[in-house]
Amino acid sequence: MSIELRDTDVIWRNAKLATMNPAIKNTYSANVNGDSIDGLNNYGILEQHDLVVRDEKILAILPTGSAPTNQCKIIDVEQRLITPGLIDCHTHLVFGGNRASEWEQRLNGVSYEEISAKGGGINSTVNATRNSSAQQLEIASQKRLNALIAEGVTTIEMKSGYGLDLINEEKQLNIVRALAQKNPIEISPTLLSAHAVPPEYKHDPDAYIDLVCDSILPTLWQKQLFEAVDVFCETVGFNLNQTKRLFATAKRLNIPVKGHVEQLSNLGGSELVAEYQGLSVDHIEHLDEKGIEALSRSGTVAVLLPGAFYFLRETKRPPIALLRQYGVPMAISTDFNPGTSPFASLRLIMNMACVQFGLTPEEAWQGVTIHAARALGRADSHGQLAAGFMADFVVWDAQNPVDILYELGHNPLVYRVYHGEIMHRDNLNRLSELNYLNEHSICDN
Ligand code: NIG
Ligand code: FE
Repeated sequence: MSIELRDTDVIWRNAKLATMNPAIKNTYSANVNGDSIDGLNNYGILEQHDLVVRDEKILAILPTGSAPTNQCKIIDVEQRLITPGLIDCHTHLVFGGNRASEWEQRLNGVSYEEISAKGGGINSTVNATRNSSAQQLEIASQKRLNALIAEGVTTIEMKSGYGLDLINEEKQLNIVRALAQKNPIEISPTLLSAHAVPPEYKHDPDAYIDLVCDSILPTLWQKQLFEAVDVFCETVGFNLNQTKRLFATAKRLNIPVKGHVEQLSNLGGSELVAEYQGLSVDHIEHLDEKGIEALSRSGTVAVLLPGAFYFLRETKRPPIALLRQYGVPMAISTDFNPGTSPFASLRLIMNMACVQFGLTPEEAWQGVTIHAARALGRADSHGQLAAGFMADFVVWDAQNPVDILYELGHNPLVYRVYHGEIMHRDNLNRLSELNYLNEHSICDN
């Protein structure tokens, strides 16, 4: 392939690329306890390759040495691993207060359902969020976001759902918008007004769904504050009929839907999401075969949230073997929130997905790249290293993808590249690439 490079192009030279491109098949042979094992891996590995970046996209991937070298910047990564940027496809990152004392109660034997029934749980964060100023919320959220960015997250979903009235849902989504404008990260905002019944509608949840359908959803959609609609379909959330009304309203406006479903019980929420060709079903510990069959027909992504499973000390695992059998794509995410998953580390969550749910490290990587991209409606532009995809990737001080979820507690990220923009781990702010490279003389061109 002959390409003409411009002086603003960047070549990431001499890399081991885990492209996550399903079209690139790798075979491997290993010797385990005397048995030789041959298999396939799904990382889409390309050894000794160059990644060529133009503006905010990947222009080409070429074997090292085959790209022209004049007139552009070259960064030799010395055979380090490059992966797509991580995608965290389910978070509740913007909220006021915290629920550490509630956690302490839970450790003293009180259940999540009991805490919710006493006005604790989601509603205590609703109070704290309503009582926080926009500035307080933004400062708190920025700190959480910094932690995720520092570990290589380049796309993140953020939900409303702690305002539960028009003013406060709008306040939350305006902060999401401000974070998107101020940070080198792509944010996919979701309306989760149907997260819990707010105290003022305690005796009439249907009337609250009316408010969401007639006012909150259409008003905030008009202001372009979100791109998908979510719901907590559960005994402590909203029933199937209420969920159906919400989805019908979203469908009339052509808005994609997704759902917190089958987390604590099975209400059949997954089948309903599938009926609306939803983007994802999330949690799904109690999902059954009927639901899985529906997902496999609709192409909906199963989002696994091992942080909440761990933090709530659940024992029922999601039906991983059946999801595999039906070929349902599995994503994994932090579910970052103050009540059930206060973990601002997607690498930790990848590790948990393997240890607790039995995912393979390849599945964990797919879960934060191609499948997470699909859960956010971005399968054609994000989550892979391939020509035409966004130049969102991470250069790791590591050789193999498994290293990134194996050893936690220190950060192996060397460079994080977002839409072609380079950030070095020593500098969490936007970085002029040239300043860094001149200072450290890594650029050899
Ligand atoms: O994804 N399940 C519902 N929503 C959140 C919990 C939110 C909260 O407890 O504040 C979740 O786990
Ligand atoms: Fe959640």
